[in-house]
Amino acid sequence: MTAVKKKLVVLISGSGSNLQAFIDACANGDLNAQISCVIANKAEAFGLQRAADAGIKTAVVNHKDYDSREAFDTVLAQTIQAHKPDLVILAGFMRILTPAFVNAFAGKLMNIHPSLLPKYTGLNTHQRAIDAGDDFAGVTVHFVTPELDGGPPILQAKVAIDASDDAESLAQKVLQKEHIIYPLATKWFLDGQLTLQGNSVLKDKDLLSKNGLLYQE
Ligand code: GAR
Repeated sequence: MTAVKKKLVVLISGSGSNLQAFIDACANGDLNAQISCVIANKAEAFGLQRAADAGIKTAVVNHKDYDSREAFDTVLAQTIQAHKPDLVILAGFMRILTPAFVNAFAGKLMNIHPSLLPKYTGLNTHQRAIDAGDDFAGVTVHFVTPELDGGPPILQAKVAIDASDDAESLAQKVLQKEHIIYPLATKWFLDGQLTLQGNSVLKDKDLLSKNGLLYQE
């Protein structure tokens, strides 16, 4: 007997290449899940087209329609909760969320950030890594807590910075890793192998012995 599919809601602001990785993982069975809805804060987000092409319901909650973060987050939360998701996935969702929103989805809200956190929270992460002369850039999947990009990490992947790299070439290389580790971390979560406990990630003993924080190919 196959287990009931878990429900995901994915929030995006742009291209949605991570969303596409989730669409593909659900379609090919890597994830025993379905995407109930894709929500964007911009009507022009290309990811909405990806969702529509895959027959997935979409919604737009435009932050410009609201005069405060709280008002926007309240409607966003209601739009999500209508789908009763098992997990809410921030996939290039470029809005800062209020503590009230984050707390409403505590332990069920994940983000992907294009740096090896705690390095380079915020924007322009790849350029900052290049400017600092770092040998590696990377990406982190983490649970979301009220502190911006400060929630406990679940999984990271590293990418070597070559002398010829600029922020764009690095972003493309890091995205390839994003598309692997975000669905993988999600699978572990949906399989009950990891949870958020306070400000730490509690991982299955088995998972912990086979997989540290750094994704190995
Ligand atoms: C990804 O690189 C993701 O890590 C980043 O936005 C990009 C979205 O790409 N997220 C953040 O910067 C969050 N602070 P995508 O729309 O193609 O998935």
